[in-house]
Amino acid sequence: MALRPVLQFPDPRLKRTSEPVAEVTDEIRELAADMIDVMYDEPGIGLAAPQVGEAIRMVVMDTEWTEEDVEKDPIVVINPEILEREGEVSWTEGCLSVPDFQAEVERAAKIRVRYTDLDGKEHVEECEELRAVCFQHEIDHLDGVLFIDRISRLKRSLYVKKRKKALRLEDEEQAQGGGAL
Ligand code: NI
Repeated sequence: MALRPVLQFPDPRLKRTSEPVAEVTDEIRELAADMIDVMYDEPGIGLAAPQVGEAIRMVVMDTEWTEEDVEKDPIVVINPEILEREGEVSWTEGCLSVPDFQAEVERAAKIRVRYTDLDGKEHVEECEELRAVCFQHEIDHLDGVLFIDRISRLKRSLYVKKRKKALRLEDEEQAQGGGAL
């Protein structure tokens, strides 16, 4: 079966605020499994439901995984909430929904986060570094926020310009019939 495509900036669906998951249904389980497949395929270490067009508060993550790893240990994060933030860290971030761009983002260095999983079990986790950054980045997606909304206005506008130009070139290529079918 074809994988769900990842929405890319400036798709307006990335700007929506997602709704909490009221109940874990078979549909939710299926979506989580689909999201895990998409995450490893891209590849990425985190993916939020709105990135595949579903405005619900669910995220999948595997911050231990690298492309060389055969072993996968994804977690499904439902209705996450950051309970505490401590310190500050500057981290170079990228996003599957923001093609061809990375930038440093200021985040809390340590967090305490609460979420439930597919079995309805509650987790409270304290984490730092990459894992804390990943939680904050993915939870931002649930609130319609991209990492480029957290960088300087100048850097953001340079990226937006570059992205619009790239999209224009894609359109032109398609109009000329030269693109891949
Ligand atoms: Ni992202």
